[in-house]
Amino acid sequence: MTVVLHTRAELRAWLDRTRGPRGVVLTMGALHDGHVALMRAARAEVGDAGTVLVTVFVNPTQFGPGEDFTRYPRTLDDDVARCTAAGVDAVFAPDVHEVYPEDEEVPTYDPGPLADDLEGAIRPGHFVGVLTVVARLLRLTEADVTCFGEKDYQQLALVRRLPELEPALAQCRFVGVPIVRDADGLAGSSRNRYLTAEERVQALVIPESVRLVRELCADGIPAAQAERVGRGFLSTSPGVTVDYVVVRSETLGPAPVAGPARVLVAARVGTTRLLDNGPIEIRGVRP
Ligand code: PAF
Repeated sequence: MTVVLHTRAELRAWLDRTRGPRGVVLTMGALHDGHVALMRAARAEVGDAGTVLVTVFVNPTQFGPGEDFTRYPRTLDDDVARCTAAGVDAVFAPDVHEVYPEDEEVPTYDPGPLADDLEGAIRPGHFVGVLTVVARLLRLTEADVTCFGEKDYQQLALVRRLPELEPALAQCRFVGVPIVRDADGLAGSSRNRYLTAEERVQALVIPESVRLVRELCADGIPAAQAERVGRGFLSTSPGVTVDYVVVRSETLGPAPVAGPARVLVAARVGTTRLLDNGPIEIRGVRP
């Protein structure tokens, strides 16, 4: 049975009575199969002698004005049921005062220029909010290992920097877990539930654009041209507004001329912003 903890005092008591390595999965709830994959990965990391803890906290500091903080789905009972089915030992679902007490200074982290690129350019300050809460929750839960989905690829790249930025996390390992897709190909996301049935069908061009860019690069089309074709394909698709289609190195630097890389896509369908990405192999320009 999964234990549900709401306060830091309850969390402290639980930490004191458990033993072995601790795997932590950070979430904002509205859990889906992608989160379950993270829970399984955390269990694989710590084994049966360790414990897996899932946090459910909709972090206000990573939402900008006018974003979906207030309407973000809050489904704690369903989330706990999913955690129980996945063999999670504990859920920590604090309220905002437990995470950010008024009488405590919460350290913030400067993640560098990558935080102002792509998602950061569209959502200013987002990654400072993410890194702050990730560091905070990993410290509170005393995580030995934490698993993050590749769906939020830029987030994963940035949180991997935390052990250098926060000495208390120097020993925590960050594990990336591949995207889990629904049967129709859409990448799993808590925000998919905002989509109407029609928008859901329209959104399928997003994973198709990832495939398209992958195929072009594998065929020897230069990355910049593949990006343009991908963007053109998405921007002429009904109901879709493109934010970006880019090819980058695996660490989100400039795209290499040849070799392994990543395509990242962000687009809006109706009022819902969706992200997708995938590994690609750039074959290099054909002679
Ligand atoms: O990816 C998310 O759901 C959030 O950004 C995270 C990591 C739980 C921090 O609030």
